[in-house]
Amino acid sequence: MNIARVSLLPEAEGDSETLPGEVMVEDQHAEVGWNAQGTPVSLRFDDPYFSLDDGLAETRHTFLAGNDLPARFRPGFQVAELGFGTGLNMLATLIAFCAAGAPGPVRFTSFEAFPMATADMARALAAFPEAEAVAGDFLAAWDRGARRVDLGGFIVEVIEGDARETLPRWPGRADAWFLDGFNPAKNPELWGERLLAEVARRHTGPGAPPRLTPPPVSCGAGSKPRGSRWSVAPGSGANAT
Ligand SMILES: C[S@@+](CC[C@H](N)C(=O)[O-])C[C@H]1O[C@@H](n2cnc3c(N)ncnc32)[C@H](O)[C@@H]1O
Repeated sequence: MNIARVSLLPEAEGDSETLPGEVMVEDQHAEVGWNAQGTPVSLRFDDPYFSLDDGLAETRHTFLAGNDLPARFRPGFQVAELGFGTGLNMLATLIAFCAAGAPGPVRFTSFEAFPMATADMARALAAFPEAEAVAGDFLAAWDRGARRVDLGGFIVEVIEGDARETLPRWPGRADAWFLDGFNPAKNPELWGERLLAEVARRHTGPGAPPRLTPPPVSCGAGSKPRGSRWSVAPGSGANAT
């Protein structure tokens, strides 16, 4: 698959503003370990970044099928994600966008407190040849410090900082949400009621915003527990896997 055109975009106005009392995490980076299967594991959260079985298939099932994508793509469509991690979800969405020949622009905005080093991302993505094949331009831009990149009508924006601080300042609304924090037992901050209420408020769709409640806490050893990855599609509340 060819990405027709790649350009780096200027930072959005106000990206670097700090609110009074805000905790700055922008200089914090992911500390990554690797398990026996070669899956990246966050040393900070003691949790894998994606399914130990097949992260790409899980992404497609939970987030793309769960949001009826690529069928719902249309010009101006906005995907938002909590937890950018390795960029695997973003690349799976890019692949679906390109394969469907969907009209752009489509925006993918992700909130990430602990950005990964380019080398760690590349190593993680090497497990998924399909994703690795389209990752090059994005990784080159990421390595140069770009956080807004136009990949041929698929516009990626990664907003660094704690989502509890950055999401309330985001002016956008999403047509599809990918909620991909770690296991709620390991990272309850990303599943707090206030943040989920903010997600619901920033959600397009008919009627009242869906009521999102924190998932039940479970600590699965070795694989992601059920309930730690959610997609939020219009009119449907949240679907968890
Ligand atoms: C399960 S990983 C996401 C995997 C990712 N979607 C992918 O495609 O590789 C969870 C991510 O949430 C991030 N995270 C954890 N707490 C956060 C917070 N308070 N605000 C923003 N991001 C956070 C972690 O740094 C990590 O990258």
